[in-house]
Amino acid sequence: MQNLELKISYTELESENELNEVEKTLLQKARETSNMAYAPYSNFFVGAALLLENGVTVCGNNQENAAFPSGLCAERVAIFSAGANYPSVKIKTIAITCKTNTFKVDQPLSPCGACRQAMSEYETRYKSNIRIILQGETGKIRIMNSISDLLPFMFVAEELKK
Ligand code: THU
Repeated sequence: MQNLELKISYTELESENELNEVEKTLLQKARETSNMAYAPYSNFFVGAALLLENGVTVCGNNQENAAFPSGLCAERVAIFSAGANYPSVKIKTIAITCKTNTFKVDQPLSPCGACRQAMSEYETRYKSNIRIILQGETGKIRIMNSISDLLPFMFVAEELKK
């Protein structure tokens, strides 16, 4: 028997003032996008803004549905939109934020497992790490330099080919 440990790394900032201008703008875009989310059932509004290697920003927000499972999270709306419209352009950074009208979200958003897996595919696809910037409505900012810090033991394409 072997007990093993896995290390993940992340950074925390006190506020957006500690971000550089490019990342501050990206987070701001994520916030603006969250205001356009279609979330009449949860009233939880999530926005994701992706910065591509060519300088283009792609945004997405959660889209809910009366048949609940038919909706989609902001992260996947954004990342699939990038994949559909810029299929060969690397994704450098993703900023994700959220708000609700029932309380002040003061902790960084923690993306759901399905979105982590969906985002991981694009690191594998472009062989390039994606930086993730997470914030709630206010409060500290959490940053990872790779999806693998969000999703250790991710399912990867090689497992289909062995
Ligand atoms: N949601 C996201 O858009 N991203 C996440 O990472 C977590 C949850 C959405 C899905 C649903 O519309 C609402 O937030 C409440 O779960």
